[in-house]
Amino acid sequence: MTTDSAAPQRDARVLPDVSHLSIGVLGGTGEQGRGLARRLGMAGLKVVIGSRDAARAQAIADEIGFGIQGATNEDCASSTDVVIVAVPWDGHSTLLESLKTHLVGKIVIDCVNPLGFDKQGAYGLSVAEGSAAEQAAAILTESRVVGAFHHISAVLLLDEAVDTIETDVLVVGDDRDATDVVQAIASSISGIRGVFAGRLRNCGQIETFTANLISINRRYKAHSGIRVTDI
Ligand SMILES: NC(=O)c1ccc[n+]([C@@H]2O[C@H](COP(=O)([O-])OP(=O)(O)OC[C@H]3O[C@@H](n4cnc5c(N)ncnc54)[C@H](OP(=O)(O)O)[C@@H]3O)[C@@H](O)[C@H]2O)c1
Repeated sequence: MTTDSAAPQRDARVLPDVSHLSIGVLGGTGEQGRGLARRLGMAGLKVVIGSRDAARAQAIADEIGFGIQGATNEDCASSTDVVIVAVPWDGHSTLLESLKTHLVGKIVIDCVNPLGFDKQGAYGLSVAEGSAAEQAAAILTESRVVGAFHHISAVLLLDEAVDTIETDVLVVGDDRDATDVVQAIASSISGIRGVFAGRLRNCGQIETFTANLISINRRYKAHSGIRVTDI
């Protein structure tokens, strides 16, 4: 399976075949992790949900179906080819430090949005490293960290009435082979196009832009996403 038909029209690179890859989802018992696991399982990829509690992970995996398995975060990280980090910002650095050795040599996809909420709504938190993804890269020095899936609504991912999610997923990272793999993983989900959007140092505004999408969702009662035009 190649996903060249979903590639941006003026990008001559053909995205790699990712159908053989197994995908781990750390914090996969949460809304975002469950949603991504479900859509990737629907796309035919082998998926393992990770949790601090293996029994909880297996129960949720069984609920989702599509042959998805549950495990501890440690077993999830060490047994899969590509790992998605889908835990809250609060637990991000501690979890990644604890899994550093399990993630050596792997592509790690960070979708964490460091956001605060007050009476005026959502806002971006300032992060010493620049972004959650750059914090991940600073911790996981022997992994290839890629930022992606920040703007996709867990509600849509989980909605059984929604067959196709028509949106772009911005993919940022410093290793072009790794971003190609992540573009292909994103593009394996029906309706989604993975779009290369630059280096990891530009992940901060992608994460913070989620606060704008949350405001849009509140005003328009929507589950908004983004589409990049003219590519
Ligand atoms: N929700 C969305 O629509 C959405 C969209 C884009 C990106 N995101 C990002 O995706 C991430 C997950 O979002 P979510 O809404 O799924 O979050 P969540 O439900 O609050 O948490 C996800 C899972 O993380 C684990 N967890 C919680 N606290 C933890 C800690 N301190 N250390 C380690 N693991 C912990 C829990 O699993 P166990 O208890 O089973 O270990 C929990 O089920 C967030 O960083 C968010 O910014 C969310």
